[in-house]
Amino acid sequence: MSIAIVTGASSGIGTELVRQLESYTDNVDEIWAIARRENLLEELKSKTKLKVKPIPLDLTDLKSLDTLSQMLNEAKSEVSVLINCAGYGKFGSWADIENSEALGMIDLNCRALVGVTNVALPFMKSGSKILQVCSISSFQPLPLMSVYAASKVFVLNYSRALWKELRPRGITVTTLCPGWVDTAFFKTATATKNPKAVTKYTFMQSPERVVKQGLTAMKKGRMLSIVGFQNKLLYVMNKLLPVKMVMSTWIKTQK
Ligand SMILES: NC(=O)c1ccc[n+]([C@@H]2O[C@H](COP(=O)([O-])OP(=O)(O)OC[C@H]3O[C@@H](n4cnc5c(N)ncnc54)[C@H](OP(=O)(O)O)[C@@H]3O)[C@@H](O)[C@H]2O)c1
Repeated sequence: MSIAIVTGASSGIGTELVRQLESYTDNVDEIWAIARRENLLEELKSKTKLKVKPIPLDLTDLKSLDTLSQMLNEAKSEVSVLINCAGYGKFGSWADIENSEALGMIDLNCRALVGVTNVALPFMKSGSKILQVCSISSFQPLPLMSVYAASKVFVLNYSRALWKELRPRGITVTTLCPGWVDTAFFKTATATKNPKAVTKYTFMQSPERVVKQGLTAMKKGRMLSIVGFQNKLLYVMNKLLPVKMVMSTWIKTQK
């Protein structure tokens, strides 16, 4: 049996990934959908023709990685697609965000992403695909989203290095960088002591568009996929302009 693993499948981009996946793969028999809210994972069964196995796990708990590893060993399945989408952000200065939340972002966005990738890789072979959901916030240091943006820098650099490492094995790693996407991300991000720290969400993108581009890039084995012309421009500008200027401009756009 050949499976696709999708983390963060209960909401937003992850749910849309599950919905669209069947159009981009011809060798997936079952989607293993991972997140904490089991009821939302159950609902995915009606959103795709592919078989869905809901796997309720808190990926910030290291025991969850053991559970997933054990399930893969028992199933003896091939993982033909791995999509790491689970993640969250928080808006505000260092003082506005609880320490547990700051560390939680690192645990989920970075540690769990590496952990799930390492658990899945032994079950992947030539032709298998990995999609890492990153963000344009990985292009620059972002005051008022400092930990979140830094966690995505980790995802970008880790995933690109893995793309190179895994090339000889014929496994591709695609890093997807959307801008603002219309999901429940903002509900979580604004639940801080300063919910209005970041309020200008320019060039909001739909999950449908982001996922369509991400899965196309994954299918082609692209290393990096930036969603939207303005975000591609941002990527280039960030390479050319002084970092202090880039940070000041970002702060000004939020005033
Ligand atoms: N929305 C944006 O503007 C935007 C922009 C760029 C990148 N992204 C990235 O896109 C990804 C998906 O975000 P989204 O916009 O779709 O937000 P979302 O709708 O809030 O989805 C977040 C997903 O992560 C899961 N999750 C959260 N904590 C978890 C945990 N401890 N263990 C397992 N799963 C957990 C959530 O499920 P449960 O709560 O059920 O566990 C949910 O399925 C994230 O990596 C985010 O950084 C988002």
